Amino acid sequence: MKNISLLKKLLLSFFIVIVGSYIITSIMANKMIDKSFNSYLENQLKEKSDNIIKLVEKSYDESKGIINIDKESLNRYAEDGSFDIVVKDIKGNTLYSSGNGYLMGKGTMGNMMKKHSQMMKMYNFNTSDYVEEEHQLYKNNAAIGTISIGYLGNYNPTVQDMEFRGNLNSVLLYSVILAILFGLIMSLILSKQITTPLVQINKIANEMKRGNFNIRSKVQTSTLELNELSQSMNYLAEGLQMQEALRKRLTSDMAHELRTPLTTLLNYVEGFIDGVWQPTGEKLNSCHEEILRLTKLVERLQDIAKLEQANLVLNKSSFNLSIELKKVVEVYKPFYSKKKLTLIENIHDDLEVFMDKDKIKQIIYNLLSNAFNYSNEKGEVVLTAYKKEDNIVISVQDKGIGIAKKDLSHIFERFYRADKSRTRETGGTGIGLTIVKSMVEAHGGTIKVESKLGEGSIFTIVLPVGLTIK
Ligand SMILES: Nc1ncnc2c1ncn2[C@@H]1O[C@H](COP(=O)(O)OP(=O)(O)OP(=O)(O)O)[C@@H](O)[C@H]1O
Ligand SMILES: [Mg+2]
Repeated sequence: MKNISLLKKLLLSFFIVIVGSYIITSIMANKMIDKSFNSYLENQLKEKSDNIIKLVEKSYDESKGIINIDKESLNRYAEDGSFDIVVKDIKGNTLYSSGNGYLMGKGTMGNMMKKHSQMMKMYNFNTSDYVEEEHQLYKNNAAIGTISIGYLGNYNPTVQDMEFRGNLNSVLLYSVILAILFGLIMSLILSKQITTPLVQINKIANEMKRGNFNIRSKVQTSTLELNELSQSMNYLAEGLQMQEALRKRLTSDMAHELRTPLTTLLNYVEGFIDGVWQPTGEKLNSCHEEILRLTKLVERLQDIAKLEQANLVLNKSSFNLSIELKKVVEVYKPFYSKKKLTLIENIHDDLEVFMDKDKIKQIIYNLLSNAFNYSNEKGEVVLTAYKKEDNIVISVQDKGIGIAKKDLSHIFERFYRADKSRTRETGGTGIGLTIVKSMVEAHGGTIKVESKLGEGSIFTIVLPVGLTIK
């Protein structure tokens, strides 16, 4: 299908609507005017012919028994209203005749009537045949004679009547032309108002298609939908810009994270090949550690990739959180005791929830392993869980190394590690808390941390209990 610009399409539609409605209106108006004008003329005719009859009847002289025709008045009627009048007395003698002017072509009156008839045609009057009406004349209920009144068609408009009718039509025509012009100008303005912002937004979309995410729509319009569209475009551009920045950072972070263990491995292996170093158990152990680190990093990256898929899909079910948390504690206790750390549980009973069980467990594993990794020997870790209104509050508190103020706001970012040398010992990748945060947020919950360097940290999670649909 051929593509037509929105402006052209809008203009064309407006044009069709405007012209169409004006044509309909003018046809209707014309018909209405015709109708009322015709009835006006018919009334005029009736009134005039009544007046003529009254005039003749009035001029009857009872004492003499004759009609004193007022020729002047009758002539005036005959000429003004284009009537042909013939008055006869009771015996049938013609007392007055305005002349047989209506017999087309004969005499001056005839010519006049012909002209009149042309004019009537010109103004679109119905020039039906010549009509003659005969009336009895009465005085005090006694017949005194007859009068015949002839005229053209059903009515007989005067020249002024026809001019008035013509003027009315021209006024109508001019107003239609003016209205169409006004309509067209208005539709041009309206169409422009709609299309200009759209064209601008389209330009922005095209820029974004080319990879320019710095661009923003500055469309200012009073149209709600267009404003929303413009804002959505900006929102999209911001989102894409952030994604782009994140992607670039991830690539460089990843390169950085991979380079360190790879360099260590390369050095060792090259040393073995060149015979500089003997592949002693200790050296091989170091290599093994680096490989483990790399493997863990790759696994973590996989986790993160899964989490970042548009919507983290949760596999929610109803379960007893108290029981699950206690199971996790049981798993961790042996590790903790190895480091002479005490793991204390303060879990309220019967915490029934509707959540993704595996993900909740993963959250707790991550927090407990951090508490383990960043605690000194003989420390103490407390896992607390209780219900508060419609939320479950879970906290992991340790008396470990704590986190410096400057690091606190960054620890949830991926690859962020507060103390690189220490996390190196613990084999940390700086991804654990990123995963925890994503999972908590996917559940509609929040996570916060309070910590003091050298004194310990407390991580608190608030999760909505969720619907308990079985
Ligand atoms: N309980 C804690 N006490 C002190 N510092 C902590 C604690 N938990 C996290 N941190 C700091 O926050 C950083 C980020 O933690 P995160 O769990 O994301 O990564 P990680 O533990 O280094 O690596 P991994 O991806 O293996 O968990 C840690 O490197 C550490 O510096
Ligand atoms: Mg961790």
